[in-house]
Amino acid sequence: MNDQARLQRTQAIVGDIIDAIRGILRKHDVTFDEYRAGVRHLIELAAEQEVPLLLDCYLNQTICDIEMKTRRGSRSNVEGPYFLENAPMVTDTIKVRGDTKPLLIRCEVKDLQGQPIPGVITDIWFADSNGDYSGFSEDFPIEYFRGKATTDSEGKYAVMGSIPKEYPMTSNEHGPTGTIIEMLGGQGMRPQHIHFKYLKEGYAPLTTQAYFHGGKHLDEDPVGAVFDDLIHELKMEDGIAVLDLNVVLDPAE
Ligand code: BEZ
Ligand code: FE
Repeated sequence: MNDQARLQRTQAIVGDIIDAIRGILRKHDVTFDEYRAGVRHLIELAAEQEVPLLLDCYLNQTICDIEMKTRRGSRSNVEGPYFLENAPMVTDTIKVRGDTKPLLIRCEVKDLQGQPIPGVITDIWFADSNGDYSGFSEDFPIEYFRGKATTDSEGKYAVMGSIPKEYPMTSNEHGPTGTIIEMLGGQGMRPQHIHFKYLKEGYAPLTTQAYFHGGKHLDEDPVGAVFDDLIHELKMEDGIAVLDLNVVLDPAE
């Protein structure tokens, strides 16, 4: 897309957002006091650094649904606010700490024709046993609970990590995101999940998640991101839980 086309698209989208909000204000005869309360809520959201959290909670999955209108490979799923660009490269182990159960993550990446794709860099990130992500908690550095694995000549990688726990969307349930979730009658716990982002030149980037069969909150995810084809049954091999993933990448547009 050239600069002119990008500007026109941005004008169209931003213009439509403003028109939609004006329509909502008119529909509900919103008062000046209510409008000011909304402004104060947005100021609090920014001050608490919860803007990405609230937007990812309600809008990120919609973007993934739009992506899936044109994709034929694996399902795209919310990235959420806890991805970091500079995770360490890992060969066979992602560092974990605390009270966690080991999990072997095995993955095979193919193209739409079923051919293995070597050299796919896969970011993997998941919460610790308190529901915290490295880089967002002062308790542990970013080389924990996240890493980049690379597929081998057969399009496969295998890394040891740990089974994540379900966790609350926000550590402050009375904060600007927690109060909105509660006001709308939702519950704030995300089901257990692991995040993945697959990158390889020539293929569409794929950001997705894996959920666990039998986990809590699968049918009441505050983010609305749980789909049957993303729920996996863990196997036990030599006393270790194993998550086997088959991923299909779409070609780049
Ligand atoms: C997450 O899965 O990490 C997440 C997704 C959306 C909002 C908040 C967290
Ligand atoms: Fe997460």
